[in-house]
Amino acid sequence: MTIPHLDEYRGTSVQVCGLWPFAVGASAPMVGVPLGRSLQTGATLCCDPISWFQRANLISNPSVFVLGKPGLGKSTIVRRMALGLAGYGVQPLVLGDLKPDYVDLIEALGGQVISLGRGRGHLNVLDPGEARSAARRLTGSARTRVMADAHGRRLNMVSALLTIVRSAPPTDREETILDRALQVLDERHDQDSAPVLADLLKVVQDAPDEVRHVALDRGSMDRYREITEHLEASLIGLVGGGGRLGEIFSKPTTNPMRLDRPVVFDVSAIEESERSLQAAVLLACWSSGFGAVTVAHALADAGLAPRRHYFVVLDELWRALRAGAGMVGRVDALTRLNRQLGVAMAEISHTMSDLMALPTEEDRAMAKGFVERAGMVICAGLPEAEMPLLNSAVNMSRAEQKLLASWQDPPAWDATTGREGAPPGRGNFLIKVGGRPGLPVHVDLTAAEATINDTNKLWHEASRIGASAPTGQE
Ligand SMILES: Nc1ncnc2c1ncn2[C@@H]1O[C@H](COP(=O)(O)OP(=O)(O)O)[C@@H](O)[C@H]1O
Ligand SMILES: [Mg+2]
Repeated sequence: MTIPHLDEYRGTSVQVCGLWPFAVGASAPMVGVPLGRSLQTGATLCCDPISWFQRANLISNPSVFVLGKPGLGKSTIVRRMALGLAGYGVQPLVLGDLKPDYVDLIEALGGQVISLGRGRGHLNVLDPGEARSAARRLTGSARTRVMADAHGRRLNMVSALLTIVRSAPPTDREETILDRALQVLDERHDQDSAPVLADLLKVVQDAPDEVRHVALDRGSMDRYREITEHLEASLIGLVGGGGRLGEIFSKPTTNPMRLDRPVVFDVSAIEESERSLQAAVLLACWSSGFGAVTVAHALADAGLAPRRHYFVVLDELWRALRAGAGMVGRVDALTRLNRQLGVAMAEISHTMSDLMALPTEEDRAMAKGFVERAGMVICAGLPEAEMPLLNSAVNMSRAEQKLLASWQDPPAWDATTGREGAPPGRGNFLIKVGGRPGLPVHVDLTAAEATINDTNKLWHEASRIGASAPTGQE
C-alpha cells in the first residue's frame, strides 16, 4: 500500500472544525512573527527571538545568529522579524547599518535615521544623551546608577578612540587622568549643553588640582606636563579635524537618538577602506545605543516611562569584527548582557570561516562563542566546506548539512530573457535551536515589503551602454 504525501494547511479551529478528524496539532510553533511556509509540511511557521524566548519559552536567551552566503536573504529575514516585532510593540534598533539595508524599513515605520560619516553628521562621544535629563527625573540610587553608567560609557569611548588612533590602549595612569578630568569637566561645564572633546583637552591642559593629584606630579608642574604630554598629543589628534578619525566625534551631536522610536544609524557613507573610522563609528553607535537602552530601563523601573523592549540588529558582523583591535571583545560584552539589558539581538554574518579568520586565537574563540551562545541559529545556503566548522558550533545532521549545501547552488541563466534567475536557495532557511532537528522554512515576501527590500536602487536606470538593448527604458 502506498500512502501519498499530503500537504498540510493551517487554520484556526473556527475555520477547520468541519474537517475533523483530519486536523492535527501543528509540529512547529505558531508563536511569533510569521516567516513563511515550512518546506517540509507547507504549514505556516512563525519565529522571532523575542516571542520564542518570552512567550513560548523555546529558547534560553532572546538572540538569533544568522549565517549564510551573500545574497540569499539574511538581511531580508531579519528585516521581516524587525517589521513583525515592531507590530508587537518592540522597537528595532539598527546600531550601524553598513549597507544600508534597514534605512527604508525604519523610515517606513516612522523611525529615526541618524546618518554618520565625514561631512554627514556628528556624534559627540562626551554627550551623555538622555542620561542627563533622565537623571533629573530620578532620585537616590537609580539616579546615581544612571550617572555612573553614562560616565563609564563616555570614559570607555574616549579610551576606545585613543586605542584606535594609537593602535595601543591608553595606560592605567592615563585612564585615571581622563576619569578625573571628565568629572572636573562635568562640574565646570554648564548643564544645558554637552561638553565636547576640546573641552576635555582644555581641562587636561589647565591642570586643575584634582587632576594633578591623580597624575602624581608630586607638586611639580614640569612633571605634570611630562606625564600628560602623550595624552595631550593624542587628544589634540582627535580634536583636530584632520586626524585619522576626522571630526565626527568632536563636534556636538547633530541628531540625538530618541528612546521612543525605531532607530537606525546609517553609516553606509564610510568607505570600506577606512577601517579605523568604521570601527570607531560602530563602537560609538553601540555605546550610545546601549546607553539609551539602559536609560530607558532605569526610567521604566522608576515608573516614569513605559517598559520598552528593543530588537538590536548587528548586520555584517564580520566586517565590524575585523574593523579594528578590541572589536570582538566589545561585541562579546554586549552579547553577554542582552538578557539583563532587556534587548533581543540579531547578529548576521556570512560563514563560520569568516569568524575563524580573525587574527588572534582569543578573538576566534570569542567569535565562535557568539554562535554557540545564540538562542537560535538560522542558516541559509552554505558551502560544503563550512560544515565541519559549523557542526562544531551547532549540531547538524548529515541530511541538514546536505540541505544547506543544496541551497547555495548558483542560479540558472535564463536563455529567453538573457538574465540570471533568482538563486534557487534564496529565502530558504533552516532554524536550529540547540541539538533539535532544524525547521526548514521559505520566506515569502509580501507586496508591502517590496519597497523596503530594494537593495539595488542605484542600478534601476539602465546604463547608457545598455540604452539600445531591448530592455532599455529611456
Ligand atoms: N525570500 C525572498 N524572496 C524574494 N526575494 C528575496 C528574498 N529574500 C531576499 N530577496 C532579495 O534578494 C536580495 C538579497 O537579499 P539580502 O537579504 O540583502 O541578502 P543577504 O543579506 O543574505 O546578502 C535582495 O534584493 C532581496 O530583496
Ligand atoms: Mg545582508
